[in-house]
Amino acid sequence: MSGYVLAIDQGTTSSRAIVFDDGFRVVGMGQEEFPQHFPRSGWVEHDPEDIWSSVVATVRSALADASLSAADIAALGITNQRETTLIWDRDSGKPIHNAIVWQDRRTAEICQRLVSEGSEPAITAKTGLIVDPYFSGTKIAWLLDNVDGARAKAEAGKLAFGTVDTFLLWRLTGGRVHATDATNASRTMLFDIEANDWDDELLRLLNVPRTLLPAVEDCDAEFGTTDAALFGAAIPIRGIAGDQHAATLGQACFEPGMVKSTYGTGCFAVLNTGAERITSHNRLLTTIAYRLAGKTCFALEGSIFVAGAAVQWLRDGLQVVARAEQTGPMAARADEAQDVYMVPAFTGLGAPWWDAEARGAIYGLTRKTGPDELARAALEAVCFQTADLLTAMRKDWPGASDTILRVDGGMVASDWTMQRLADLLDAPVDRPVVLETTALGAAWVAGQKAGVWPDMAGFARRWHLERRFTPQMDAVTRGRKLTGWADAVRRTLTA
Ligand code: G3P
Repeated sequence: MSGYVLAIDQGTTSSRAIVFDDGFRVVGMGQEEFPQHFPRSGWVEHDPEDIWSSVVATVRSALADASLSAADIAALGITNQRETTLIWDRDSGKPIHNAIVWQDRRTAEICQRLVSEGSEPAITAKTGLIVDPYFSGTKIAWLLDNVDGARAKAEAGKLAFGTVDTFLLWRLTGGRVHATDATNASRTMLFDIEANDWDDELLRLLNVPRTLLPAVEDCDAEFGTTDAALFGAAIPIRGIAGDQHAATLGQACFEPGMVKSTYGTGCFAVLNTGAERITSHNRLLTTIAYRLAGKTCFALEGSIFVAGAAVQWLRDGLQVVARAEQTGPMAARADEAQDVYMVPAFTGLGAPWWDAEARGAIYGLTRKTGPDELARAALEAVCFQTADLLTAMRKDWPGASDTILRVDGGMVASDWTMQRLADLLDAPVDRPVVLETTALGAAWVAGQKAGVWPDMAGFARRWHLERRFTPQMDAVTRGRKLTGWADAVRRTLTA
């Protein structure tokens, strides 16, 4: 059998498909951006048909780019933006509403009610999550209560819920398979991460009928095959993992104490805590890092909603840069004497603050402030937020004390940002040779399951460092900057 493995990486702003060979080299790629819909302040939606058509198109172009046909592909792995919520009709396959995206804040009130009723401790005990609109559970409840006739149909078993992986799996298999994996399930607020099952008490609390829900499998399960009519031959689907979990695998963070941070639309730091489930006392999430061959590996996660999206805002909103890559050189020449802080709470603040109502703010503006200082403030905000997460991780678990951060995602191409990150963390930052870690992680799950790629140990040996950034900032400057950031966050929080 060939060693070619295909990964679908369905992200928040674009869909990508990548074909890897058995040396983990990218031999073919397709990428398509799709529209974001903002029907009201704080609401974010995707048209499910845009998600689907962009995935089909990118798979076709990745195969063409690699000069391969579907029959040459040993296995397919799916990775996806997590928490984004879809419900569709089981007979027609048609979604009943747009997908409600993870960033969407429309269910803030439902969350406030759950907290004021005292339900949060029980929810956290079972799911490892904080009560926040970020997760799928309250989004499902909103859809059932706001789409005409949805609740009655759901109760009659006519509707199916899925995160994006599940929706794609359903469509790719021609409606034959309704399943998800443990990592995606762990983000719904309906899943008991220790019992590894949907939880009836949580389903009751959110009024979600079990008939809606997919089967939950390990990441490396046999998920069926793609409908042969789609790509010319059936491709075995052998892996699913949410994108941050796939990046953890792609970065070979297999040992307890290893941590990766991915800088995409948002930033997500995941610390492997092994078979041990660690309860956070510093507002981090406990989540399933991955579940392979029946064994769960747990993690602590820090989720930041805006990272690359702040740079996007400088480009598309403020229009002070033409291209995202310009921000690094601009930051490098910004005036060191100006302390400008940006708190990019465009859709609230995630870990460790969890303030759904907070909105973005910039502090320290003077008549001298220009685009360079704004660019630096946006990039530093990402570094400061990562520092907050690592501090929380170290407080929660001694295993995180001297860890080295493995980084990936679009923003890590900026040397200036990575150096500033190491400076503000006061810890080394490792950038690997392969930066397609999310897609690679999904491909590895599927490739090893299909028997054409190495096992965990063999894969870990093939992780290579491209560059290590070591801290160079003096302690006084670091201390001043971290204090300035903490003050900016304090002024932005609503409670
Ligand atoms: O939890 C949301 C996350 O999975 C989205 O990732 O890369 O699309 O920003 P990304």
